[in-house]
Amino acid sequence: MFHYSQNDFYCEQVPLADVAARAGTPAYVYSSAAILANYQAYDDAFGDLPHGICYSVKANSSLALLALLARAGAGFDIVSGGELFRVLQAGGDTSKVVFSGVGKHADEVEDALAAGIHSFNCESEAELALIDALAARRGVKARFAIRVNPDVDASTHPYISTGLREHKFGIAIAEAPDVYQRARRFANLEPAGVSCHIGSQILDFNPILEAVDKVLALAGTLRDQGCPIRHLDLGGGLGIAYHAGEQAPHIAAFIQALRSRLAATGLSVMVEPGRSIAGPAGVLLARVLYRKQNGPKEFVVVDAAMNDLIRPALYRAHHEIVPLRKNLLPPITADVVGPICESGDFLARDRRLANVMPGDYVAVCSTGAYGFVQASNYNSRPRAPEILVEGAAWRTIRRRETYEDLIRGETL
Ligand code: LLP
Repeated sequence: MFHYSQNDFYCEQVPLADVAARAGTPAYVYSSAAILANYQAYDDAFGDLPHGICYSVKANSSLALLALLARAGAGFDIVSGGELFRVLQAGGDTSKVVFSGVGKHADEVEDALAAGIHSFNCESEAELALIDALAARRGVKARFAIRVNPDVDASTHPYISTGLREHKFGIAIAEAPDVYQRARRFANLEPAGVSCHIGSQILDFNPILEAVDKVLALAGTLRDQGCPIRHLDLGGGLGIAYHAGEQAPHIAAFIQALRSRLAATGLSVMVEPGRSIAGPAGVLLARVLYRKQNGPKEFVVVDAAMNDLIRPALYRAHHEIVPLRKNLLPPITADVVGPICESGDFLARDRRLANVMPGDYVAVCSTGAYGFVQASNYNSRPRAPEILVEGAAWRTIRRRETYEDLIRGETL
Protein backbone atom coordinates (compact mmCIF):
# COMPACT_ATOMS: atom_id res chain seq x y z
CA MET A 1 0.00 0.00 0.00
CA PHE A 2 3.11 2.22 0.29
CA HIS A 3 4.87 2.65 -3.02
CA TYR A 4 6.68 5.06 -5.33
CA SER A 5 4.97 6.38 -8.41
CA GLN A 6 7.45 8.31 -10.54
CA ASN A 7 9.51 9.87 -7.77
CA ASP A 8 6.78 10.37 -5.18
CA PHE A 9 6.06 8.11 -2.22
CA TYR A 10 2.39 7.19 -1.90
CA CYS A 11 0.10 5.65 0.67
CA GLU A 12 -2.62 4.04 -1.42
CA GLN A 13 -3.49 6.83 -3.87
CA VAL A 14 -2.29 9.70 -1.73
CA PRO A 15 1.11 11.34 -2.36
CA LEU A 16 2.55 11.65 1.14
CA ALA A 17 4.44 14.88 0.43
CA ASP A 18 1.01 16.53 0.09
CA VAL A 19 -0.08 15.17 3.46
CA ALA A 20 3.17 16.33 5.08
CA ALA A 21 2.80 19.81 3.61
CA ARG A 22 -0.82 20.17 4.72
CA ALA A 23 -0.83 18.32 8.06
CA GLY A 24 2.68 19.30 9.09
CA THR A 25 5.34 17.00 10.54
CA PRO A 26 5.94 14.83 12.45
CA ALA A 27 2.77 12.91 11.60
CA TYR A 28 1.74 9.27 11.60
CA VAL A 29 -0.07 8.05 8.49
CA TYR A 30 -1.92 4.71 8.27
CA SER A 31 -3.29 2.84 5.29
CA SER A 32 -6.78 1.50 5.98
CA ALA A 33 -6.44 -0.92 3.05
CA ALA A 34 -3.25 -2.39 4.53
CA ILE A 35 -4.81 -2.81 7.96
CA LEU A 36 -7.85 -4.55 6.53
CA ALA A 37 -5.75 -6.73 4.20
CA ASN A 38 -3.59 -7.90 7.10
CA TYR A 39 -6.66 -8.67 9.19
CA GLN A 40 -8.25 -10.46 6.25
CA ALA A 41 -5.13 -12.57 5.71
CA TYR A 42 -5.74 -14.10 9.14
CA ASP A 43 -9.48 -14.49 8.67
CA ASP A 44 -9.21 -16.04 5.21
CA ALA A 45 -6.51 -18.48 6.28
CA PHE A 46 -8.59 -19.77 9.19
CA GLY A 47 -11.41 -20.55 6.78
CA ASP A 48 -14.04 -22.77 8.39
CA LEU A 49 -12.02 -23.58 11.53
CA PRO A 50 -13.89 -21.94 14.44
CA HIS A 51 -11.71 -18.96 15.32
CA GLY A 52 -11.50 -15.50 16.80
CA ILE A 53 -9.06 -12.78 15.78
CA CYS A 54 -8.59 -10.51 18.77
CA TYR A 55 -6.56 -7.56 17.52
CA SER A 56 -4.08 -6.58 20.21
CA VAL A 57 -5.12 -3.03 21.06
CA LYS A 58 -1.74 -2.12 22.56
CA ALA A 59 -0.13 -2.13 19.12
CA ASN A 60 -2.16 0.84 17.91
CA SER A 61 -5.20 1.94 19.86
CA SER A 62 -6.50 4.77 17.66
CA LEU A 63 -10.29 4.83 17.77
CA ALA A 64 -10.60 5.01 14.00
CA LEU A 65 -8.38 1.96 13.59
CA LEU A 66 -10.32 0.01 16.20
CA ALA A 67 -13.57 0.99 14.49
CA LEU A 68 -12.21 -0.16 11.13
CA LEU A 69 -11.30 -3.54 12.58
CA ALA A 70 -14.54 -3.82 14.57
CA ARG A 71 -16.51 -3.32 11.34
CA ALA A 72 -14.43 -6.07 9.73
CA GLY A 73 -15.53 -8.42 12.52
CA ALA A 74 -12.45 -8.34 14.76
CA GLY A 75 -12.44 -9.03 18.46
CA PHE A 76 -9.92 -7.34 20.73
CA ASP A 77 -7.16 -8.29 23.12
CA ILE A 78 -6.98 -5.70 25.89
CA VAL A 79 -4.59 -5.25 28.81
CA SER A 80 -6.17 -2.37 30.71
CA GLY A 81 -9.37 -0.58 31.57
CA GLY A 82 -8.24 2.19 29.25
CA GLU A 83 -8.06 -0.19 26.32
CA LEU A 84 -11.53 -1.52 27.18
CA PHE A 85 -12.81 2.07 27.19
CA ARG A 86 -11.30 2.61 23.75
CA VAL A 87 -12.91 -0.57 22.38
CA LEU A 88 -16.28 0.57 23.73
CA GLN A 89 -15.84 4.05 22.26
CA ALA A 90 -14.95 2.53 18.90
CA GLY A 91 -18.08 0.39 18.85
CA GLY A 92 -16.24 -2.90 19.33
CA ASP A 93 -18.14 -6.06 20.22
CA THR A 94 -17.29 -6.77 23.87
CA SER A 95 -18.39 -10.39 23.57
CA LYS A 96 -15.25 -10.81 21.44
CA VAL A 97 -12.86 -9.20 23.95
CA VAL A 98 -10.20 -11.09 25.87
CA PHE A 99 -8.48 -9.41 28.82
CA SER A 100 -4.77 -10.24 29.16
CA GLY A 101 -2.11 -8.96 31.51
CA VAL A 102 -0.27 -9.89 34.66
CA GLY A 103 -1.54 -7.06 36.85
CA LYS A 104 -5.27 -6.57 36.41
CA HIS A 105 -6.68 -4.08 38.88
CA ALA A 106 -10.02 -4.71 40.65
CA ASP A 107 -11.61 -1.68 38.95
CA GLU A 108 -10.53 -2.99 35.57
CA VAL A 109 -11.97 -6.44 36.30
CA GLU A 110 -15.26 -4.78 37.38
CA ASP A 111 -15.43 -2.84 34.12
CA ALA A 112 -14.69 -5.96 32.08
CA LEU A 113 -17.40 -7.94 33.90
CA ALA A 114 -19.86 -5.09 33.36
CA ALA A 115 -19.00 -5.03 29.67
CA GLY A 116 -19.56 -8.79 29.34
CA ILE A 117 -16.23 -9.63 27.77
CA HIS A 118 -15.56 -13.08 26.34
CA SER A 119 -12.93 -14.18 28.84
CA PHE A 120 -10.04 -13.33 31.12
CA ASN A 121 -6.56 -14.64 30.41
CA CYS A 122 -5.37 -15.17 33.97
CA GLU A 123 -1.81 -15.21 35.16
CA SER A 124 -2.01 -16.17 38.85
CA GLU A 125 -4.24 -17.88 41.39
CA ALA A 126 -4.63 -14.64 43.31
CA GLU A 127 -6.06 -13.09 40.15
CA LEU A 128 -8.53 -15.99 39.77
CA ALA A 129 -9.66 -15.41 43.36
CA LEU A 130 -10.20 -11.70 42.71
CA ILE A 131 -12.22 -12.26 39.53
CA ASP A 132 -14.30 -14.93 41.28
CA ALA A 133 -15.11 -12.59 44.17
CA LEU A 134 -16.06 -9.71 41.89
CA ALA A 135 -18.14 -11.98 39.63
CA ALA A 136 -19.94 -13.35 42.70
CA ARG A 137 -20.79 -9.84 43.88
CA ARG A 138 -22.23 -9.14 40.46
CA GLY A 139 -24.03 -12.49 40.28
CA VAL A 140 -22.34 -13.54 37.04
CA LYS A 141 -19.99 -16.28 35.91
CA ALA A 142 -16.67 -15.24 34.42
CA ARG A 143 -14.98 -17.35 31.77
CA PHE A 144 -11.24 -17.73 32.08
CA ALA A 145 -8.21 -19.23 30.41
CA ILE A 146 -4.97 -19.70 32.30
CA ARG A 147 -2.06 -18.14 30.51
CA VAL A 148 0.56 -20.83 30.64
CA ASN A 149 4.24 -20.28 30.26
CA PRO A 150 5.43 -23.05 27.94
CA ASP A 151 9.15 -22.41 28.50
CA VAL A 152 9.87 -21.89 24.82
CA ASP A 153 12.47 -19.46 23.51
CA ALA A 154 10.90 -17.09 20.99
CA SER A 155 14.34 -15.95 19.75
CA THR A 156 13.40 -12.28 19.67
CA HIS A 157 14.56 -9.14 21.50
CA PRO A 158 14.89 -9.94 25.24
CA TYR A 159 12.46 -7.11 26.20
CA ILE A 160 9.66 -8.59 24.08
CA SER A 161 10.28 -12.28 24.72
CA THR A 162 7.84 -13.65 27.28
CA GLY A 163 7.68 -17.44 27.13
CA LEU A 164 10.64 -18.49 29.25
CA ARG A 165 10.42 -19.67 32.85
CA GLU A 166 12.41 -16.64 34.02
CA HIS A 167 9.77 -14.19 32.70
CA LYS A 168 6.99 -12.70 34.82
CA PHE A 169 4.26 -13.99 32.52
CA GLY A 170 1.82 -16.86 32.96
CA ILE A 171 1.84 -19.98 35.10
CA ALA A 172 4.41 -22.73 34.47
CA ILE A 173 2.74 -25.18 32.12
CA ALA A 174 3.58 -28.15 34.37
CA GLU A 175 1.61 -26.59 37.22
CA ALA A 176 -1.41 -25.72 35.10
CA PRO A 177 -3.42 -28.96 35.61
CA ASP A 178 -3.32 -28.45 39.40
CA VAL A 179 -4.28 -24.81 39.05
CA TYR A 180 -7.31 -25.71 36.90
CA GLN A 181 -8.27 -28.35 39.50
CA ARG A 182 -8.02 -25.89 42.36
CA ALA A 183 -10.00 -23.32 40.36
CA ARG A 184 -13.03 -25.61 40.61
CA ARG A 185 -13.63 -24.26 44.07
CA PHE A 186 -14.39 -20.84 42.57
CA ALA A 187 -18.16 -21.01 42.04
CA ASN A 188 -18.26 -17.94 39.79
CA LEU A 189 -15.49 -18.94 37.42
CA GLU A 190 -15.91 -21.08 34.36
CA PRO A 191 -12.82 -22.61 32.75
CA ALA A 192 -13.10 -21.96 29.02
CA GLY A 193 -9.69 -22.17 27.48
CA VAL A 194 -5.92 -22.16 27.69
CA SER A 195 -3.83 -19.21 26.57
CA CYS A 196 -0.19 -18.51 25.84
CA HIS A 197 1.93 -15.86 24.19
CA ILE A 198 5.66 -16.37 23.90
CA GLY A 199 6.83 -13.02 22.57
CA SER A 200 6.64 -10.44 19.84
CA GLN A 201 8.38 -9.75 16.50
CA ILE A 202 8.87 -13.47 15.97
CA LEU A 203 10.28 -14.07 12.50
CA ASP A 204 10.50 -17.87 12.67
CA PHE A 205 7.13 -19.22 13.81
CA ASN A 206 8.42 -22.67 14.73
CA PRO A 207 8.84 -21.71 18.41
CA ILE A 208 5.17 -20.66 18.45
CA LEU A 209 4.22 -24.05 17.00
CA GLU A 210 6.36 -25.72 19.66
CA ALA A 211 4.37 -23.85 22.28
CA VAL A 212 1.10 -24.76 20.55
CA ASP A 213 1.99 -28.45 20.73
CA LYS A 214 2.64 -28.14 24.45
CA VAL A 215 -0.62 -26.25 24.96
CA LEU A 216 -2.54 -28.84 22.93
CA ALA A 217 -1.15 -31.61 25.10
CA LEU A 218 -2.21 -29.66 28.18
CA ALA A 219 -5.72 -29.14 26.77
CA GLY A 220 -5.97 -32.93 26.33
CA THR A 221 -4.91 -33.52 29.93
CA LEU A 222 -7.42 -30.96 31.18
CA ARG A 223 -10.25 -32.47 29.18
CA ASP A 224 -9.33 -35.90 30.58
CA GLN A 225 -9.66 -34.34 34.03
CA GLY A 226 -13.18 -33.27 33.14
CA CYS A 227 -12.30 -29.63 32.56
CA PRO A 228 -14.45 -28.27 29.69
CA ILE A 229 -11.74 -26.55 27.62
CA ARG A 230 -13.26 -25.12 24.45
CA HIS A 231 -10.70 -22.70 23.06
CA LEU A 232 -6.99 -22.11 22.78
CA ASP A 233 -5.76 -18.53 22.72
CA LEU A 234 -2.35 -18.57 21.09
CA GLY A 235 -1.47 -14.92 21.61
CA GLY A 236 0.13 -12.64 19.05
CA GLY A 237 3.73 -12.38 18.06
CA LEU A 238 4.09 -12.83 14.32
CA GLY A 239 6.85 -10.49 13.18
CA ILE A 240 7.04 -8.11 10.24
CA ALA A 241 9.80 -7.11 7.82
CA TYR A 242 11.55 -4.03 9.18
CA HIS A 243 14.63 -4.25 6.96
CA ALA A 244 14.33 -3.79 3.21
CA GLY A 245 14.51 -7.25 1.70
CA GLU A 246 13.71 -9.02 4.98
CA GLN A 247 11.13 -11.80 4.71
CA ALA A 248 8.29 -11.65 7.19
CA PRO A 249 6.64 -14.92 8.15
CA HIS A 250 3.66 -15.62 5.96
CA ILE A 251 0.41 -15.20 7.90
CA ALA A 252 -1.39 -17.81 5.79
CA ALA A 253 1.40 -20.38 6.24
CA PHE A 254 1.37 -19.85 9.99
CA ILE A 255 -2.40 -20.22 10.24
CA GLN A 256 -2.29 -23.28 8.00
CA ALA A 257 0.15 -24.88 10.45
CA LEU A 258 -2.28 -24.09 13.27
CA ARG A 259 -5.22 -25.50 11.32
CA SER A 260 -3.50 -28.80 10.69
CA ARG A 261 -2.82 -29.13 14.43
CA LEU A 262 -6.27 -28.06 15.56
CA ALA A 263 -8.71 -29.34 12.95
CA ALA A 264 -9.40 -32.69 14.62
CA THR A 265 -9.50 -31.41 18.21
CA GLY A 266 -12.89 -29.70 18.21
CA LEU A 267 -11.23 -26.73 19.89
CA SER A 268 -11.74 -23.22 18.60
CA VAL A 269 -8.69 -21.04 18.29
CA MET A 270 -8.03 -17.41 19.04
CA VAL A 271 -5.07 -15.29 18.12
CA GLU A 272 -4.08 -11.83 19.33
CA PRO A 273 -2.09 -10.24 16.51
CA GLY A 274 -1.06 -6.62 16.87
CA ARG A 275 2.13 -5.81 15.01
CA SER A 276 1.39 -7.99 11.98
CA ILE A 277 -1.88 -6.10 11.41
CA ALA A 278 -0.93 -2.50 12.18
CA GLY A 279 2.86 -2.42 11.82
CA PRO A 280 3.36 -2.45 8.06
CA ALA A 281 0.30 -0.22 7.64
CA GLY A 282 1.87 2.92 9.08
CA VAL A 283 4.67 5.42 8.51
CA LEU A 284 5.94 8.37 10.49
CA LEU A 285 6.48 11.46 8.35
CA ALA A 286 9.26 13.88 9.29
CA ARG A 287 10.96 16.88 7.76
CA VAL A 288 14.70 17.36 7.52
CA LEU A 289 15.71 20.40 9.59
CA TYR A 290 19.49 20.41 9.23
CA ARG A 291 22.44 18.49 7.94
CA LYS A 292 25.54 18.64 10.08
CA GLN A 293 28.95 17.04 10.23
CA ASN A 294 30.78 16.30 13.52
CA GLY A 295 34.24 15.12 12.58
CA PRO A 296 33.81 12.18 10.27
CA LYS A 297 30.18 11.68 11.25
CA GLU A 298 27.27 12.98 9.26
CA PHE A 299 23.95 13.79 10.91
CA VAL A 300 20.53 14.37 9.43
CA VAL A 301 18.48 16.26 12.01
CA VAL A 302 14.75 15.73 11.52
CA ASP A 303 11.69 17.06 13.36
CA ALA A 304 10.59 13.62 14.64
CA ALA A 305 12.28 12.31 17.76
CA MET A 306 12.43 9.51 20.30
CA ASN A 307 9.31 10.89 21.96
CA ASP A 308 7.44 10.20 18.70
CA LEU A 309 9.05 6.82 18.02
CA ILE A 310 11.01 5.21 20.83
CA ARG A 311 11.65 1.83 19.21
CA PRO A 312 15.15 2.63 17.84
CA ALA A 313 16.30 4.02 21.20
CA LEU A 314 14.63 1.33 23.31
CA TYR A 315 15.26 -1.82 21.28
CA ARG A 316 17.83 -0.64 18.74
CA ALA A 317 15.01 -1.35 16.31
CA HIS A 318 15.60 -0.80 12.62
CA HIS A 319 13.09 1.20 10.58
CA GLU A 320 13.72 1.98 6.93
CA ILE A 321 13.80 5.70 6.20
CA VAL A 322 12.87 6.79 2.69
CA PRO A 323 12.44 10.18 1.02
CA LEU A 324 8.95 11.29 0.08
CA ARG A 325 10.44 12.63 -3.15
CA LYS A 326 13.39 10.87 -4.71
CA ASN A 327 16.30 12.98 -5.92
CA LEU A 328 19.17 12.03 -8.18
CA LEU A 329 21.99 12.72 -5.70
CA PRO A 330 24.24 9.88 -4.54
CA PRO A 331 23.20 8.30 -1.21
CA ILE A 332 24.90 9.21 2.07
CA THR A 333 25.73 7.39 5.30
CA ALA A 334 24.43 9.25 8.35
CA ASP A 335 22.75 9.12 11.72
CA VAL A 336 19.15 10.32 11.57
CA VAL A 337 18.49 12.13 14.82
CA GLY A 338 15.76 14.22 16.44
CA PRO A 339 15.77 17.46 18.45
CA ILE A 340 15.65 15.82 21.91
CA CYS A 341 18.52 16.48 24.29
CA GLU A 342 19.79 12.90 24.55
CA SER A 343 22.33 10.96 22.56
CA GLY A 344 19.78 8.13 22.57
CA ASP A 345 17.52 10.26 20.41
CA PHE A 346 18.13 8.63 17.07
CA LEU A 347 15.89 7.06 14.46
CA ALA A 348 18.76 5.43 12.57
CA ARG A 349 22.50 5.02 13.02
CA ASP A 350 25.19 4.81 10.35
CA ARG A 351 22.44 4.40 7.83
CA ARG A 352 22.84 4.33 4.06
CA LEU A 353 20.22 6.86 3.11
CA ALA A 354 18.92 9.06 0.32
CA ASN A 355 20.77 12.36 0.09
CA VAL A 356 18.02 14.38 1.75
CA MET A 357 18.34 18.12 2.20
CA PRO A 358 16.82 20.54 4.73
CA GLY A 359 13.14 20.97 3.88
CA ASP A 360 12.83 17.50 2.37
CA TYR A 361 10.38 15.05 3.85
CA VAL A 362 11.11 11.45 4.84
CA ALA A 363 8.97 8.50 5.95
CA VAL A 364 10.07 6.26 8.81
CA CYS A 365 8.57 2.95 7.67
CA SER A 366 6.68 0.16 9.42
CA THR A 367 5.72 2.31 12.37
CA GLY A 368 2.00 1.53 12.48
CA ALA A 369 2.45 -0.67 15.56
CA TYR A 370 4.12 0.39 18.81
CA GLY A 371 4.78 3.81 17.28
CA PHE A 372 2.28 6.43 18.36
CA VAL A 373 1.11 4.31 21.31
CA GLN A 374 4.56 4.56 22.86
CA ALA A 375 4.91 8.28 22.13
CA SER A 376 5.36 10.69 25.02
CA ASN A 377 5.54 14.39 25.68
CA TYR A 378 9.21 14.25 26.68
CA ASN A 379 10.93 17.61 26.21
CA SER A 380 7.39 19.05 26.23
CA ARG A 381 6.86 18.07 22.65
CA PRO A 382 3.20 17.86 21.62
CA ARG A 383 2.37 14.45 20.22
CA ALA A 384 2.05 14.06 16.47
CA PRO A 385 -1.28 13.79 14.67
CA GLU A 386 -2.52 10.52 13.23
CA ILE A 387 -3.92 10.38 9.72
CA LEU A 388 -5.89 7.63 8.03
CA VAL A 389 -5.75 7.10 4.27
CA GLU A 390 -8.65 5.43 2.49
CA GLY A 391 -8.02 5.18 -1.25
CA ALA A 392 -7.53 8.70 -2.58
CA ALA A 393 -8.85 10.32 0.60
CA TRP A 394 -7.16 11.07 3.89
CA ARG A 395 -8.36 12.48 7.18
CA THR A 396 -6.95 13.36 10.55
CA ILE A 397 -8.08 10.79 13.12
CA ARG A 398 -6.23 12.44 15.97
CA ARG A 399 -5.22 16.07 15.80
CA ARG A 400 -1.77 17.32 16.69
CA GLU A 401 -1.50 18.20 20.36
CA THR A 402 -1.22 21.85 21.32
CA TYR A 403 0.77 23.53 24.08
CA GLU A 404 -2.53 23.74 26.00
CA ASP A 405 -2.80 19.93 25.76
CA LEU A 406 0.65 19.69 27.33
CA ILE A 407 -0.45 21.35 30.58
CA ARG A 408 -4.03 20.00 30.73
CA GLY A 409 -4.77 18.79 34.24
CA GLU A 410 -1.86 20.65 35.83
CA THR A 411 -2.16 23.30 38.55
CA LEU A 412 0.33 25.87 39.75
N1 LLP B 1 -0.93 -10.80 23.28
C1 LLP B 1 -0.18 -10.56 24.38
C2 LLP B 1 -0.51 -11.23 25.64
C3 LLP B 1 0.91 -9.68 24.28
O1 LLP B 1 1.66 -9.45 25.35
C4 LLP B 1 1.21 -9.03 23.06
C5 LLP B 1 2.31 -8.10 22.94
C6 LLP B 1 0.37 -9.32 21.95
C7 LLP B 1 -0.67 -10.21 22.10
C8 LLP B 1 0.58 -8.69 20.61
O2 LLP B 1 1.78 -9.12 20.06
P1 LLP B 1 2.18 -8.76 18.55
O3 LLP B 1 1.27 -9.53 17.63
O4 LLP B 1 2.01 -7.28 18.37
O5 LLP B 1 3.59 -9.18 18.46
N2 LLP B 1 6.67 -2.46 22.41
C9 LLP B 1 7.25 -3.61 21.73
C10 LLP B 1 6.27 -4.74 21.59
C11 LLP B 1 5.69 -5.25 22.90
C12 LLP B 1 4.72 -6.37 22.73
C13 LLP B 1 4.05 -6.72 24.00
N3 LLP B 1 3.05 -7.74 23.92
C14 LLP B 1 7.81 -3.16 20.39
O6 LLP B 1 7.78 -1.97 20.08
O7 LLP B 1 8.34 -3.97 19.64
